[in-house]
Amino acid sequence: MRTDIKLCLLNQHLLAELLHAAVTDADPLEVMPPVKGPDGWTPKRQAAFVQFHESRSLSADPVETTFAITVAGKVAGAARLCPMGGQPGTAEAGVWIGRSHRGAGVGTAVLELLLSRARAEDFTTVYVSTTPDNTAVRSLLSARGVDLVPDGEALTAHMNLTTGPQGT
Ligand SMILES: CC(C)(COP(=O)(O)OP(=O)(O)OC[C@H]1O[C@@H](n2cnc3c(N)ncnc32)[C@H](O)[C@@H]1OP(=O)(O)O)[C@@H](O)C(=O)NCCC(=O)NCCS
Repeated sequence: MRTDIKLCLLNQHLLAELLHAAVTDADPLEVMPPVKGPDGWTPKRQAAFVQFHESRSLSADPVETTFAITVAGKVAGAARLCPMGGQPGTAEAGVWIGRSHRGAGVGTAVLELLLSRARAEDFTTVYVSTTPDNTAVRSLLSARGVDLVPDGEALTAHMNLTTGPQGT
């Protein structure tokens, strides 16, 4: 397991670095909800990225916790835990990592760190949703013994943090 990966609670300074990582190393659709307009990192889309994180994680009443992922001290992506309405104790997990860092074990390390954070925040279950074509997420979860099950067009998993191999 890589030891040069850290999760740092997002703040305005890290958000600027996260925007840089996103613009230089990721596709907008991998890291934020769709924004209408021409493809790519237009000024409008960059502003929407900042506004998205400010409203969801840095406001007075945040709806989720976002972490900047650092690799050897440099911001390389983001991970989040979002409490799920109507499901007490359950948080939805989300992760993106810059292209230049993918396939090198960062995602695997981030998943472990994110589950530790979820436990520390007293969540008992972490929910993941992905698409059938996302081979990296499927491999990452399968290596951890997590079964994804079809749910409409998505594949989803509920990872129990309190019992069994998925929660260890
Ligand atoms: C999904 C993501 C977070 C995985 O992070 P990562 O750092 O690439 O993952 P790792 O290097 O730890 O690899 C995890 C597993 O996926 C496999 N993998 C990684 N990239 C892959 C690819 N492009 N195609 C197929 N398998 C891949 C690895 O081989 C590894 O499997 P293994 O343990 O059986 O060898 C990253 O690819 C990403 O940010 N993708 C874009 C955003 C995204 O899809 N987020 C998830 C939404 S649910």
